[in-house]
Amino acid sequence: MALALLGILALVISIAASATWSAITRKSGIDPVASHWPPTPKMEGVFATNTLLQELDELGVGELPGPEDIAVDDNGVLYTGCADGWIKRIFPETGEVQNWVQVGGHPLGLAWGHHGNLLVCEPTRGLLNVTADKALEVLSNEADGVKYKLTDGLDVAKDGSIYFTDATHKFGMNTSDLDILQGRPNGRLLKYDPSTRTTTVLRKNMYFANGVALSAKQDFLVVCETSMVRCMKYWLQGEREGTMEVFIDNLPGHPDNIRHNGRDRFWIGLVAGRTRLTDTLVKIAPLKHILALPGVLQKISASSKMAKVLAVGEDGVPLAFYEDPTGKSIALVTTALEVGDYLYLGNLARNYVGKLKLRQL
Ligand SMILES: *[C@@H]1O[C@H](CO)[C@@H](O)[C@H](O)[C@H]1NC(C)=O
Ligand SMILES: *[C@@H]1O[C@H](CO)[C@@H](O)[C@H](O)[C@H]1NC(C)=O
Repeated sequence: MALALLGILALVISIAASATWSAITRKSGIDPVASHWPPTPKMEGVFATNTLLQELDELGVGELPGPEDIAVDDNGVLYTGCADGWIKRIFPETGEVQNWVQVGGHPLGLAWGHHGNLLVCEPTRGLLNVTADKALEVLSNEADGVKYKLTDGLDVAKDGSIYFTDATHKFGMNTSDLDILQGRPNGRLLKYDPSTRTTTVLRKNMYFANGVALSAKQDFLVVCETSMVRCMKYWLQGEREGTMEVFIDNLPGHPDNIRHNGRDRFWIGLVAGRTRLTDTLVKIAPLKHILALPGVLQKISASSKMAKVLAVGEDGVPLAFYEDPTGKSIALVTTALEVGDYLYLGNLARNYVGKLKLRQL
């Protein structure tokens, strides 16, 4: 940590010597606010340090660039959206990969509709319907006159309603790190009603609204706020309908997608890590300009060198924690999907999907 701090200091001095502060703030491209999170939870109890993710198998190596989210069909075939614009199918027994539908861009959140159709979040194209005969239809790409820039996560209710997010209307997929670093709430939680074909904004001003998952009874949903290291609970029924409260906060990393296992728990992929150093630096808004300069954040953050996924009960209590503190097996984990005895892991760092036999139940 001391070394890293010295490195930053040296960097600040060299940058200050070669450029004026206004040039730096212009170059950073962000308008930062300070981010205050409680101290990282102690790595004990459920969060005890482990290496369980190192046991995973790699599916479709070389054929799945940045497989961000995963959906499974009734036959157990997996679908994932890749950085080459394809939604690909993976046969989990053999690892065979097939191109399925070319969406363009980088398809992110995936969830099945009730008509053999797959619903897809593509950052700029918006909420898409891949029909049963593989035709593409744009369902929603703006709400209240504001276009989506990072349509991200979704879930489909029994009544057909689609709950989804636009992580930020300011930054694109390439610069999502900057939105997260900037720390301003540019995200929205949205609802698409297939009967009226209209989109409603359920919440605006969310902090990088990312994954969405409905509870087993569908009386609430959980939506992850990546830049606040927390997930929020949004009530869909009952006397608190339409209100939002913290579901789980102070996570040991930045949450991405969230998936319900159909029984008793949500799985959350933690796409980026936290360190005491970065937690301290982001408390000082002007420093974020430096962190935003090309290469700086990558140098000091440990994100690409760790992988973490977390299971949380419907009451918000952590139940299981799998990690690889080296990030050698997998990194930038975006999704953990439980299917039978296995957990399938989407990510943005590798060209394969992780397959892990579950051990903590
Ligand atoms: C999506 O496509 C299916 C056909 O596969 C269709 O029945 C459905 O109405 C479409 N729209 C939505 C929102 O599901
Ligand atoms: C940003 O993403 C687009 C595709 O969405 C790509 O063509 C472009 O090269 C990317 N830019 C940078 C700076 O990575």
